[in-house]
Amino acid sequence: RNGCSAVVRRLVLEIGFGDGESLVAMAMVHPEMDYLGIEVHRPGIGHVLLRAEALDLSNLRVMCSDAVEVLRQLPDESLERIQIFFPDPWPKARHHKRRLIQPPFVEMLVSKLKWAGQLHVATDCEDYAHSILNVLRVVPELANVVDGDGFAARPTYRPLTRFERRGQRLGHEVWDMLFARSQPGV
Ligand SMILES: C[S@@+](CC[C@H](N)C(=O)[O-])C[C@H]1O[C@@H](n2cnc3c(N)ncnc32)[C@H](O)[C@@H]1O
Repeated sequence: RNGCSAVVRRLVLEIGFGDGESLVAMAMVHPEMDYLGIEVHRPGIGHVLLRAEALDLSNLRVMCSDAVEVLRQLPDESLERIQIFFPDPWPKARHHKRRLIQPPFVEMLVSKLKWAGQLHVATDCEDYAHSILNVLRVVPELANVVDGDGFAARPTYRPLTRFERRGQRLGHEVWDMLFARSQPGV
């Protein structure tokens, strides 16, 4: 329209990026994609902004806010992928209600994904991994990308972070879950 041609770029959202190590690495390797990171921990925001400036990244934006507040303002069907790596595990049973990945939150996430857009969650907390898998499995608009409806191998685009490398040295396992938005019954 008006002689302008708008290029629609693909947008990936990362929730709770910590110090942004994985977010910066992905934005660097995939200049064709745009990345939006949300984090409530201010030092993490500062860290990622310094790295993005040093690397002259123009495809990375960050917001210091609660993910729910940002999600409410994003248009539906706008995201190529949502990634949540190592959400706070809240291991004590009495704290499980504080865990981020619960059905109402997932419902909101799904509405923001484009059709065939992907939701990728990784955790090193075994019981949280099973709880997340059980939440995602029963969402009618989500289909497990993995044959057999289980955990996924780490997709190569998810960089190993310092946190994960340390876990590997200690023998911790990591569980990846990869689901795609699909029309129910399709
Ligand atoms: C265990 S850390 C993992 C950080 C990073 N993803 C990593 O792999 O190293 C979880 C992060 O999620 C952030 N977080 C928790 N709840 C959040 C929310 N509602 N909105 C945005 N960030 C959140 C925390 O501040 C914390 O930095």
